[in-house]
Amino acid sequence: MKVGIIGSGEVGQALATAFISEGNEAMIGTRNTSKEEVVKWKKENQKGQAGSFAEAAKFGELLILATKGSKIEDAIKLAGVANFSNKVVIDATNPIADAPPDNGVLKFFTTLEESLMERIQKLIPAAKLVKAFNIVGNSFMYKPKFPGGTPTMFICGNDEKAKKTVTGILTSFGWETEDMGLVQSARAIEPLAILWCIPGMLRNQWTHAFKLLKL
Ligand SMILES: NC(=O)c1ccc[n+]([C@@H]2O[C@H](COP(=O)([O-])OP(=O)(O)OC[C@H]3O[C@@H](n4cnc5c(N)ncnc54)[C@H](OP(=O)(O)O)[C@@H]3O)[C@@H](O)[C@H]2O)c1
Repeated sequence: MKVGIIGSGEVGQALATAFISEGNEAMIGTRNTSKEEVVKWKKENQKGQAGSFAEAAKFGELLILATKGSKIEDAIKLAGVANFSNKVVIDATNPIADAPPDNGVLKFFTTLEESLMERIQKLIPAAKLVKAFNIVGNSFMYKPKFPGGTPTMFICGNDEKAKKTVTGILTSFGWETEDMGLVQSARAIEPLAILWCIPGMLRNQWTHAFKLLKL
């Protein structure tokens, strides 16, 4: 499968490397392919490719959204709205505001009545958007190993088949998946990133993941 990644930061790089490890082709999209971190990633990942946001969006049969949350709508417009149509698009972004955290609690620019994922879905209505990977640090996105067992990734989205595809990807990446419903459920999934970051912000502890226990 060809995977196009809109975003060249730690998440874009970690997921691109993970997809390549699973035998896929991956292209990282950025506004600047000669950026030091992109050049370094390409050197370390000989099979990896880099291009503009539009090139990555055209290249990918499956797309990943991984830019700074407040800039994702700009990045999608640069990538070309039509390039997202009818594709499975994994949304890993979080709507983190520029304002500093309050005693370790990150601030969001969205409300509990409208998530960033809902804004993105409105911008690309023909995309099969699935929220995933936003509730854990990038170093645990691929094959996380915890003594407490397999961690849980919460996903949501309006397209059932797309959620099945993403569940398959998550299984191969070493996650168990909980489908939490339609796009509106991102109102609850996105703030889990705030909770995940608190131990890091307060105590510099960043090595954890969520697990849902069920009867
Ligand atoms: N870091 C983590 O471990 C982690 C974990 C879970 C979720 N997330 C979420 O995943 C997303 C990516 O996080 P990250 O830490 O990898 O990177 P980031 O620093 O949040 O974002 C970097 C990306 O944002 C793009 N960007 C910045 N300003 C832009 C603008 N004005 N217009 C268009 N694009 C712009 C950059 O483009 P260029 O490539 O052109 O520089 C780059 O691709 C964020 O939404 C974050 O909240 C992060």
